[in-house]
Amino acid sequence: MNAIAMTGAAAALTGLLLAGNGDKAPPDPRDYGPDRIDISSYPDEQRKEYVVYSAKCVKCHPLARSVNAHYDARDWKRYLKRMIRRPNSGINEEQAAQIYDFLKFHADKMGY
Ligand code: HEC
Repeated sequence: MNAIAMTGAAAALTGLLLAGNGDKAPPDPRDYGPDRIDISSYPDEQRKEYVVYSAKCVKCHPLARSVNAHYDARDWKRYLKRMIRRPNSGINEEQAAQIYDFLKFHADKMGY
């Protein structure tokens, strides 16, 4: 078994062990891709929003799930509603608006 397969197996196991609380999303191939966005060239506003995004969107799956989704702004509008509506999301409307603004900026910049 190579290192990547091992990491995947360990993460899948962790997912199973944590599944008991009802919040965890089942593992997904996107979880094993890059888990951060390079914001070094982003404006201050989006840098602040990234802090909210990277703190809030890691509760039920790794940040990588969304980093590797490559959705455009319209998709994000729809998906964010779906995520914050989940019980125990811990994300309020104001935070969701900041996260949306960040993801929209990023999607536009990347040309998704
Ligand atoms: C309360 C738990 C929870 C939180 C918090 C959460 N998610 Fe999720 N997310 C899930 C679950 C469960 C799934 C898998 C089922 C689904 O797609 O709805 C998922 C799936 C996803 C997917 C893949 C969707 C698909 O159809 O393949 C993306 C992208 C995503 N989340 C982004 C985010 C972002 C961005 C945030 C932060 C705003 C976030 N999630 C916060 C539970 C959560």
